[in-house]
Amino acid sequence: MGHIRIEGLSKSYINKRKVKRVISDPENQGDAVKVFENLNLEFEDGEMVCILGPSGCGKSTLLRIMAGFDKATSGKILIDDEEAVKTSPEHVFVFQQNGLLPWMTVWQNVELGLRHIEDEKEKTETIQEYIDMVELTNFEHHYPSQLSGGMQRRAELGRALAVNPDVLYMDEPFTGLDYLTHLKIREEVINMHSYIGKTMVMVTHFIDDALIMADRIIVMNDRPAKIIMERKLDFSRPRNIEKEPGLRDLRDEVFMMLGVSYVA
Ligand SMILES: Nc1ncnc2c1ncn2[C@@H]1O[C@H](COP(=O)(O)OP(=O)(O)O)[C@@H](O)[C@H]1O
Ligand SMILES: [Mg+2]
Repeated sequence: MGHIRIEGLSKSYINKRKVKRVISDPENQGDAVKVFENLNLEFEDGEMVCILGPSGCGKSTLLRIMAGFDKATSGKILIDDEEAVKTSPEHVFVFQQNGLLPWMTVWQNVELGLRHIEDEKEKTETIQEYIDMVELTNFEHHYPSQLSGGMQRRAELGRALAVNPDVLYMDEPFTGLDYLTHLKIREEVINMHSYIGKTMVMVTHFIDDALIMADRIIVMNDRPAKIIMERKLDFSRPRNIEKEPGLRDLRDEVFMMLGVSYVA
């Protein structure tokens, strides 16, 4: 299950050096940077949600808090009505750039998330299954540095899927890939989502990716970040933005919300 609810979530970072902090005075906590304030969000089980927003608005911070790697200043996150207080690998996996451990082979990286499987035969079969799924057969014993960018990303994807989490968070998963590899990996993520049906929350700055992939998009603005737009995308798949006037209009709208004109 992977139903997530975010209630009144706020996050501030305190830059300690500039302004003196007075512990007894809640208003004077040093030079605080409010990243976001009172965010309320809900993600349905199996939903694919893309979060868009300008750089620095707190998207990664939000994902890190949702995954339990960082603490909110206030508010809470509930996964299936239980407060998510610490990272649980069964629940959550964060897929991000350079997530592979460079000193481990593809096989060992995929194996990392499967330490709980005691039966060696089952473990070996599971690792192979996911390596095959992301088409890295015969590259099991290569190190990340021996793979192309696209292959590394596929290995990360295999690792994320092998863990079989209830919720998959993706932080800019296509950044740094060349155009064609980007499209291919995107297709793999879409297929994977329709196949395994897990809740996925993806942060991206690629508007087209969000429009092609998401069941729902969320647009945030700058500090302290708020949700300025939220839209369900009831378009059939596979989607083609150029051929779907509804998606083209929505793209214009999102560009406008982000303060840029699409037509230069
Ligand atoms: N560890 C940190 N300490 C202080 N400020 C931070 C820290 N991490 C992020 N920030 C600040 O919080 C804001 C949001 O950062 P981030 O979540 O990385 O944004 P995004 O992912 O949307 O680009 C930025 O202004 C950044 O400078
Ligand atoms: Mg980020």
